[in-house]
Amino acid sequence: MFLLKKSPDLSYQDIMDYVGETTHLGGSKTTKTILKHLVFKNKRPVVLDAGCGTGKTLNILSKEIDCQLFGLDKNRRFISKAKGSVSQLIVGDLTGLPFKDEVFDAVLCEDVLPFVDDVEKCIKEFTRVLKNKGFLAITTSIYFDKPDEQTKEKLSKLYGMKLNLIVFQDFMKLLKRYNVHQVEVVKPDINIIDGLKALHPWSWIKLFSLFLNRNLSRRLFSFLTSWLRMIKTTERNPGYVAVIGKKE
Ligand SMILES: C[S@@+](CC[C@H](N)C(=O)[O-])C[C@H]1O[C@@H](n2cnc3c(N)ncnc32)[C@H](O)[C@@H]1O
Repeated sequence: MFLLKKSPDLSYQDIMDYVGETTHLGGSKTTKTILKHLVFKNKRPVVLDAGCGTGKTLNILSKEIDCQLFGLDKNRRFISKAKGSVSQLIVGDLTGLPFKDEVFDAVLCEDVLPFVDDVEKCIKEFTRVLKNKGFLAITTSIYFDKPDEQTKEKLSKLYGMKLNLIVFQDFMKLLKRYNVHQVEVVKPDINIIDGLKALHPWSWIKLFSLFLNRNLSRRLFSFLTSWLRMIKTTERNPGYVAVIGKKE
């Protein structure tokens, strides 16, 4: 509560820190959509979940495919919560991955890129650690038209941090520059409930307990309405996509 009381407006970042759990838009549905595109030739492929948060994707991967799993996130608290998943967990930064070249058969990165400082450095690192013919699968909000300054400012306020808004054309060029080809762009059939449904019941209790405090409940309500309005009025911009390609 103390953490939340410090800021005049509640942001996505405040709420994620307070609840102590991460999720991504579309929840398990988007991850399963990605998995349909990953056809591995070798037995027990080596897979990295880059920006794994508290391990939602890792848990799905460990149930759906027989693979050697690695999860990496810069947030130590999230990593310690991901411990239930059958994977090797590492605290680290996506812009400097602590792995040798060409060790992974797939790198997944769900709902992380808008939050990193340098998207290009991440793509460079993902492709460095991928084997030739390895899969890169990214889910992200993406802008089909360049966002204006006002939109950028509004979103940064809502999320409580400077966001890297990903522009579709630029992103495709970036992938090509780092030898990611055969790119498929899938628009998963999602709704906001799918992502929220993935939260642990305890997180829901924590979230709803905010409504017991009059001041916090007003701020939470104001955050939720702005967030829903943003999602509703921006069906095209941003769109939400899974981008899947192969390094070659
Ligand atoms: C919206 S959460 C998504 C987490 C997870 N992929 C999921 O689907 O639940 C974004 C995550 O990216 C992590 N992150 C942001 N920037 C990072 C960086 N430069 N290196 C590693 N992790 C980063 C955050 O700590 C957070 O866990």
